[in-house]
Amino acid sequence: MNAIGSLMAALTVTALSGFMTAQAQTAEPEAAIVPGAVWNDTEGNPINAHGGGILYHDGTYYWYGEYKKGKTVLPEWATWECYRTDVTGVSCYSSQDLLNWKFEGIVLPAVKNDKEHDLHPGNVLERPKVIYNRKTGKFVMWMHIDSADYSKACAGVAVCDTPTGEFEYLGSFRPNGAMSRDQTVFADDDGRAYHIYSSEHNATLYISELTDDYLRPAGRFTRNFIKRSREAPAVFKHDGKYYMLSSGCTGWDPNQAELAVADSIMGEWRTIGNPCVGPDADKTFFSQSTFVQKVMGKKDMYIAMFDRWNKTDLEDSRYVWLPLSFEDGEIRIPWRDKWSPDEL
Ligand code: GAL
Repeated sequence: MNAIGSLMAALTVTALSGFMTAQAQTAEPEAAIVPGAVWNDTEGNPINAHGGGILYHDGTYYWYGEYKKGKTVLPEWATWECYRTDVTGVSCYSSQDLLNWKFEGIVLPAVKNDKEHDLHPGNVLERPKVIYNRKTGKFVMWMHIDSADYSKACAGVAVCDTPTGEFEYLGSFRPNGAMSRDQTVFADDDGRAYHIYSSEHNATLYISELTDDYLRPAGRFTRNFIKRSREAPAVFKHDGKYYMLSSGCTGWDPNQAELAVADSIMGEWRTIGNPCVGPDADKTFFSQSTFVQKVMGKKDMYIAMFDRWNKTDLEDSRYVWLPLSFEDGEIRIPWRDKWSPDEL
């Protein structure tokens, strides 16, 4: 190699190592939750986990959600605002403090080469939630599976030996023979788990007990909030009572949240009003519920998780996480510009 050749080689190595350093550099640790801002993962990339939920397992929080990548389109045939992105898969992030999230990858990827597959990019995969089955030692994911026009209305199930994938997709079906769209799963302290889903054209919310392995409906279910069109259910338990946060049914547009309480997960559920407090509380701070997570090791501390959908650019939808407050026996979700689980 001549002198110019060596100089070029040296410059290339320097430039490449500079590039590598920039790639490996991790972001500054996050000190606070800023609802509605862009949240970055520990590598400095925007967190992409929409309609998601959290699983706490062995000292780590795992956040699963819809990985919405790419252009948002309104299909030509659309008769309502069914803005969509292609299915990419379900993402997973892990954290010890609920502030700093490490990207664990796409734990259930889309299936690109089979048009008939539920997970083909041209379909719909929404609101994935994962629970751990102590008996089988398996992590079980439930999700909303649909056709692009939302006429399929099914629930899909996937399973894995580890929380970080890759999950094995087992297929989809209409649980208890009924439509299933917005959904969540809830594992109770006694080991029983339940699938909670908007059914009957989203008019009525079903609560369905799962089999011991959490993979199928056990056959016992109740119809709740009959003809009241509740969506985006998020269930939690506090002091022996069950609570459910949900939204109304207005597509990607926000509406007023509602909290309900029950002595038994299967019902009866009693509506106790809109828990949101502050500016735009009647529009759920321009967001929609997806999950409520307990902050482990802190008494009476729960985080209400919402999605602030950006319907014309769904990838850029943001997260609104707010603490639940328990005052005088009432549960409230007051707006905060910025907060951290530690300060409360
Ligand atoms: C919402 C639902 C979202 C998504 C959207 C599609 O009502 O909560 O998960 O399905 O409709 O328009």
